[in-house]
Amino acid sequence: MNTVFSKDCLAGGTYLVTGASSGIGQGTAKLIAQCGGRVIISGRNEARLNETFSSLEGTGHFISAVDLVDADQTADWIKNVITEHGMLSGVFHSAGMELIRPIRMTKQAQLNDVFGSSLFAAFGIARAASQKNTIVDGGSLVFMSSVAGSTGQQGMTAYSAAKAGIDALVRSLACEMASRKIRVNSIVAGAVKTAMHDRLFNGSSDSAIEEYEKSHLLGFGEIDDVSNAALFLLSSTSRWVTGTSLVIDGGYVVKK
Ligand SMILES: NC(=O)c1ccc[n+]([C@@H]2O[C@H](COP(=O)([O-])OP(=O)(O)OC[C@H]3O[C@@H](n4cnc5c(N)ncnc54)[C@H](OP(=O)(O)O)[C@@H]3O)[C@@H](O)[C@H]2O)c1
Repeated sequence: MNTVFSKDCLAGGTYLVTGASSGIGQGTAKLIAQCGGRVIISGRNEARLNETFSSLEGTGHFISAVDLVDADQTADWIKNVITEHGMLSGVFHSAGMELIRPIRMTKQAQLNDVFGSSLFAAFGIARAASQKNTIVDGGSLVFMSSVAGSTGQQGMTAYSAAKAGIDALVRSLACEMASRKIRVNSIVAGAVKTAMHDRLFNGSSDSAIEEYEKSHLLGFGEIDDVSNAALFLLSSTSRWVTGTSLVIDGGYVVKK
């Protein structure tokens, strides 16, 4: 993976990555390991987690499979992770699921799925991180958000609300965590070519995909484009950055 970061910039640190069985989480877990960090990778699909695991550089990494459903369960899971593997230098929360569904068909079950893996789990991570002996002083929490949190699109009501919630969470959480110099930020991504991206466009015509790509000034993004931003926010290079949402969207929002 191409990166400007040095091979040892995360050496000595332990990083928890959710959504590491696929896409942006997987790419970021690999990059953390490439830069000397120890990674605890998480997701639901054990076969794909094993694939991620076997591609990690270095040693000392672990798998902790989990289905993230709500804040309490996520906080308990993190407590167990800490007991087993020690304090964390950072968390990259990439887990999330897409939903395109008109609001008239959006029921509590869909809200539980979309909010559970993304926003509710983020609250669980936040609560766990607020306890002593979970995140080292000066650590970093990075949450995946989306341009959908600040722009409108048909069928995206639930997903947009969950991602807007993530961006709102980081601003207040940054204030709560600042006394220990723990930084809290989100990444607002445009369309990045991952399995989620493929599912979203499954059945769309070539012309519809082309038109959507053109709505990004620089076209669709690659996983590295986001993973490098995540690494910046996890590393001490961004030691003066907190409470912010970093837009990595190939120019989608400005064009809109
Ligand atoms: N790709 C994009 O265009 C794009 C744009 C903006 C924002 N994002 C955000 O970026 C993040 C990563 O997306 P991606 O494109 O990398 O998607 P992806 O390839 O579909 O990966 C999603 C990951 O989330 C995990 N996950 C989903 N539900 C979960 C649950 N209930 N419990 C635990 N893990 C769960 C999946 O685990 P399993 O596969 O093991 O179930 C998988 O590892 C998401 O938060 C997404 O909303 C993506």
